[in-house]
Amino acid sequence: CGIIGHVGTDDALETLLTGLENLEYRGYDSAGVAVQNGSGIAVEKRSGEVSELKSSIDGSLEGSVGIGHTRWSTHGPPTDENAHPHTDETADVAVVHNGIIENYAELREWLKANGCEFTSDTDTEVIPHLIQYFLDEGLDGEAAFRKAIENLEGSYAVTAMISDEHVLYAARKGSPLVVGFEDEAFFLASDVPAFLEYTDDVVFLEDGDVVIVDDDGVEFTDLDGNPVSRERKTVDWDPEQAGKGGYDHFMLKEIHEQPTSIAQALEGRVDPGAGEIALEGFEPGTFADVDHVQLVACGTSYHAAMYGAFALRQAGIHATTVLANEYSVAAPPIDEDTLVIAVTQSGETADTLNALRRATAGGARTLALTNVVGSTAARQADDALFIRAGPEIGVAATKTFSSQVVMLVLLAQRITEDRLGDPAADPDTLLPALSQTPGAIDDLLESSRAAAIADRFEDSQSYFFIGRGLGYPVALEGALKFKEITYEHAEGFASGELKHGPLALVTADTPVFAVFVGDEDEKTLKNAAEAQTRGAPVVAVCPEGHRATEVADAHLEIPDTDPDVAGLLANVQLQLVSYHAAAQLDRPIDKPRNLAKSVTVE
Ligand code: G6P
Repeated sequence: CGIIGHVGTDDALETLLTGLENLEYRGYDSAGVAVQNGSGIAVEKRSGEVSELKSSIDGSLEGSVGIGHTRWSTHGPPTDENAHPHTDETADVAVVHNGIIENYAELREWLKANGCEFTSDTDTEVIPHLIQYFLDEGLDGEAAFRKAIENLEGSYAVTAMISDEHVLYAARKGSPLVVGFEDEAFFLASDVPAFLEYTDDVVFLEDGDVVIVDDDGVEFTDLDGNPVSRERKTVDWDPEQAGKGGYDHFMLKEIHEQPTSIAQALEGRVDPGAGEIALEGFEPGTFADVDHVQLVACGTSYHAAMYGAFALRQAGIHATTVLANEYSVAAPPIDEDTLVIAVTQSGETADTLNALRRATAGGARTLALTNVVGSTAARQADDALFIRAGPEIGVAATKTFSSQVVMLVLLAQRITEDRLGDPAADPDTLLPALSQTPGAIDDLLESSRAAAIADRFEDSQSYFFIGRGLGYPVALEGALKFKEITYEHAEGFASGELKHGPLALVTADTPVFAVFVGDEDEKTLKNAAEAQTRGAPVVAVCPEGHRATEVADAHLEIPDTDPDVAGLLANVQLQLVSYHAAAQLDRPIDKPRNLAKSVTVE
């Protein structure tokens, strides 16, 4: 989602709308603005594009203090009511928010018991009600805002205004916020590009910061009100690059967003201390009757589905993966004890929707695992679970894959526990490993030598990717990514299959990327050696200190972790290899030829 706020002497509306347009690249499903117009706060918001919002704006939004938002749904579908800004009943307080309020259900009940009426399904709406509650208690604006923030659990970038004050209040925890300075105007935004045509003079807020912006300037404090000093910086991004967060391509930006998107997928769902998981809408026992699981998907989502199916099968659950476009031709037998999980980032892939229809017609219970709240798949399936990866612009899927994998690993835990009495993996090792994944990916991104590897093998003829167990879908995904964005020939195989055919293609010009994630690695090592004997250079993708590093011609290391998570990390290394190989070839990385982000035809 995107946030923009403005305090100054000029009209806020134009700045807000420009900001929203500048944030459009992030993808969104609804937009809105709120302005103090002298007699209160006027709000205009709706689902759809900024141009639709613009056409519904009348003269009531005149004033120099305002906030705006573009929404990417996480709680509640994209409707006019769910669009931000949100207000209390009297519109004395207006709020825009990015992130997830974990304790919103609790707060909502408490506020309702105190007489508050809610008009949306969002978690955000508790914030203006909370602020209003503390104002009613007699606190001033700043104290009421702080008290409201203190009550929030989860992640947030919040900007709020109160109707009789020429002030914006903002707080950050786990979701970015930046302040911009321009002579007599001040901006607040989730991203620099929102206001880059007005100023390049900025302060990036840190977690725990609370800022108060009024006509006189910006006050930086911690949550308790103690002043903090934050360095002003000049950003030297051109507007196009700024849209990509300073990266050359959206794909690279999205690869680097994975620590955040995975943390967001896990938020409120994993409690490593208690060894418990909580999937909203799926109470323990909900899958007790599931006899077998069929996962249907296409492209990258299919590889994530394979990962999930493997975790289920290893734990003793009957699980199959079927390409969604093949499902209609010959679905495995379906009955009411079948759970069909449609894995689809967009929720709009025609093949996958068709498979869902087929599953429903056969009497199966259906579940959509998707990134888009309100998508067709989410509406069509009996239940939906959201991966919360945020919008993905690059056609080649990266962060949505890792969030799908994380959610499927969690689902596998719930399904096996419900069905067999024990979770698929020991929660005491899996859950801490999952929680540490964002940090592990950060480390990996910093130290990766993928660019050098891509450079070293630039003139090769074909690229092979092999893996076993959970390494197999990673090998397939590595090859898919590579061919999609480099246009070079790349294939993924199960390690054990290499000798059953593909080995005939292996030469000194065909590097083999071998993925080691702890599933019978010795055998994969032997398979890699068979390729090496035929002259192929082998690049091992493996944990630090793994035996493969001694044997392979080159290696890319992943931090040591739980086997269920290792594949996720190996995949990030392979994403980087593909990216750098494509960059060296000067390919249009974000929009590869002939491919579309979402394919809505069969
Ligand atoms: C298209 C995209 C792929 C994607 C596939 C499935 O082919 O180019 O990147 O994996 O669709 O998309 P979905 O939205 O269903 O995950």
